[in-house]
Amino acid sequence: MGNTPLLRLNTVTEDLPGEVWVKLDHYNIGGSSKDRIAVNIVRQAELSGELKPGDRIIDNGAGNTALGFALAGIAGGHPVTIVANPSLAKGKADLLTFLGVEILQGRADVPFDDAENWEAIAAHHADEDPSTWWSHQSATPDNPDAHYASTGPEIWHQTQGKVSTFIAAVATGGTVSGTGRYLKEQNPGVRVVASDFVEGPNYSTDLAEVIAGTKPLTEEKWAHNIDTTVIDSIEYRTRAEVIAFGWELARREGLVLGLTSVLSVAIALDLAAVAQPGEVIVAFSADHGRDYLAREYNAEWLRANGLAEIADRYDPAARPTEVLVG
Ligand SMILES: Cc1ncc(COP(=O)(O)O)c(C=O)c1O
Repeated sequence: MGNTPLLRLNTVTEDLPGEVWVKLDHYNIGGSSKDRIAVNIVRQAELSGELKPGDRIIDNGAGNTALGFALAGIAGGHPVTIVANPSLAKGKADLLTFLGVEILQGRADVPFDDAENWEAIAAHHADEDPSTWWSHQSATPDNPDAHYASTGPEIWHQTQGKVSTFIAAVATGGTVSGTGRYLKEQNPGVRVVASDFVEGPNYSTDLAEVIAGTKPLTEEKWAHNIDTTVIDSIEYRTRAEVIAFGWELARREGLVLGLTSVLSVAIALDLAAVAQPGEVIVAFSADHGRDYLAREYNAEWLRANGLAEIADRYDPAARPTEVLVG
């Protein structure tokens, strides 16, 4: 786990003064950055005695954390239950089932006090059954601490201390907060940027203003592990523009990345355009694009979901041919 490659982009960065490097965390054994946190969360809970031998681990997750917990659970002798939401990719669900993980259905788009909320379901199961332990990735410090102890030092060494900006998509906040904290301790001048979709749950909150310091932190409406003292700014892009750029990155750079990774790379390129010559900008890639081949990286899916323009741009051969009369 860890020690994943850092790849320099060559084609899409042509003529830009700054350099863009991508931390390819899908090279972790479970296929995503979430291996790092799952292993650390389970290990710390075992050490503290909170997670006893043979106890079941339960958490909510969109697939990547689930795979990390599946592997950590097998290594530690714990069965695993995951509360998924409807966006769980079929390939990931099949793999989880193959690994013996129990999958329950929940929802990420309803508040915690709704019985269908995926965290509420995980909490409820842990309350009901003393042999089930909720790993609670959005709140435990063992999540950002995993990135503080591994991702941060790796990027620092791989860039020989030259990293000027670090960009990572934010969900629980573990990646951006933990890695950012480590990098800032090495060089307080490192800029830490969180990325999210306009359609994401953080867009409608005061998070951007609290990070910018224009609003005081009165109550948290976002994951507890989003550390607003480490993050310098949060950048948003629409899902449609990120999907289109995902196709562009694949065709021009040969790099097939998950959508949150593409989001961070898109922002990195914008920053590289206004950077000092040779400035080192690092974008974080949480997972591979292979899991998106049945959806956002599939022309038919795009056409069926109101994004035909992207499909026509990159997959014109599949466009229904016009019949010319006369
Ligand atoms: C694909 C993907 N990208 C980004 C993230 C965000 O990472 P974090 O939870 O550390 O903020 C996650 C995890 O939730 C993820 O699965």
